[in-house]
Amino acid sequence: MKQIIRLLTVALLLMTTTSYSIAQNTGITASPEQQNSKTQWWQDARFGMFIHWGVYSSPGRGEWLMYQEHIPFSEYALLANQFNPQKYNPKDWVAKAKAAGMKYIILTTRHHDGFCLFDSKVSDFTAPKTGAKRDLIKEFADACHEAGMRMGFYYSLKDWHFPGVLPEGAPTNPHTMKLLADQAREQIRELLTNYGKVDILWFDGLTVDGPKSWHSKELLAMARKLQPNILINDRSGLPGDFATPENKVIANSRPWESCYTMNRTWGYAPNDRNYKPVAEIIRLLASCASKNGNFLLNVSPDGEGTLPTEQTETLKKIGDWIRVNGKAIYGAGPSPVVAPNLGMTSRVGDKVYLLIQRWPGSTVPIAWCGSEVKSARLLSTGQFARIEQKGDRVWLHDLPEASPDPYLCVIELTFKGEPKGTEPPYK
Ligand code: GLC
Repeated sequence: MKQIIRLLTVALLLMTTTSYSIAQNTGITASPEQQNSKTQWWQDARFGMFIHWGVYSSPGRGEWLMYQEHIPFSEYALLANQFNPQKYNPKDWVAKAKAAGMKYIILTTRHHDGFCLFDSKVSDFTAPKTGAKRDLIKEFADACHEAGMRMGFYYSLKDWHFPGVLPEGAPTNPHTMKLLADQAREQIRELLTNYGKVDILWFDGLTVDGPKSWHSKELLAMARKLQPNILINDRSGLPGDFATPENKVIANSRPWESCYTMNRTWGYAPNDRNYKPVAEIIRLLASCASKNGNFLLNVSPDGEGTLPTEQTETLKKIGDWIRVNGKAIYGAGPSPVVAPNLGMTSRVGDKVYLLIQRWPGSTVPIAWCGSEVKSARLLSTGQFARIEQKGDRVWLHDLPEASPDPYLCVIELTFKGEPKGTEPPYK
């Protein structure tokens, strides 16, 4: 009897999961709860890698080269014949992202110059049809899938290699607009059909023509039909699933992700030496997590596919930090207890993390604590502090005189019950 009941339960379970996935595949609009569960993995992830890579990576003067140096397409096209990245090894990119604590990677499948790293039936300006003679996106997708790394495709709508698209900023003539929109639709279809599971579609390069001319609504509907769980950003001119502030942290009530360069250029530019210090990058990551947002950090491989040494070094250092302090980042959000005297705070369940930018010495004072602090522990050394609490003021004693972390020192506070703050007169 027990056996029969067990079998029936399994059958029932199977039926419900199947009908659920059928419902999902029909492209029916997601309910807010479904929407939340769809973005949950991404919001928990908090940290991703952005990769700008294309034919512009060989000359190494940034990804806007064609436009900024006013290069006619006939001349720019020669770069594609030379683009034959012998050292391209996406497994290495994925391994580096993983070791840095990044949970997803967004790669430019095509930037504003229109050059596709993927095979496309509707364009000849592609890696397989020029110097490289291979589908570079296929290799990237395989590397991500093999390593269980979530994968996203950046796709620029604008395409400078189309006659009449440059100069920037003016409305496109209707004939060209139709060709461009048709091309975008077909290429998005190719990208979301030929490379297995795609987790994120990251649009960019909407022209002044706006989402109507690009048929963004239809593009998004098609994308969701082809990849039911895909997350789509807001740069097709429609809100999509998340907002994308660029080189700034702007909190939003909806899911958001700040993308940042490591130096000041997205594409490979060896002469741009304006690298942000590791401490600053970690501060930005923590700042996003503490405000409920994601942080997408860019790397720029050279024309051969190799990451610059400075970038590899920075990734390693971030990884070292996150292995010790990741609890304050993954799945973290804003904390009701704030510490404006110390830096930032984040919260995961009953834990509050002090992300200390200004280490005060062997006693760390906290204020505006509305509930009792049970324990306080330095994540970097595991040392527990001696706690003194008077009302909403708390002192953590017997800690090191100098910050034990070179970048951002984290103290984990465990509260008796729910962490609560009292209202500070300022934030
Ligand atoms: C801007 C730039 C582009 C870069 C992107 C990253 O749109 O035009 O070069 O890829 O930002 O967010």
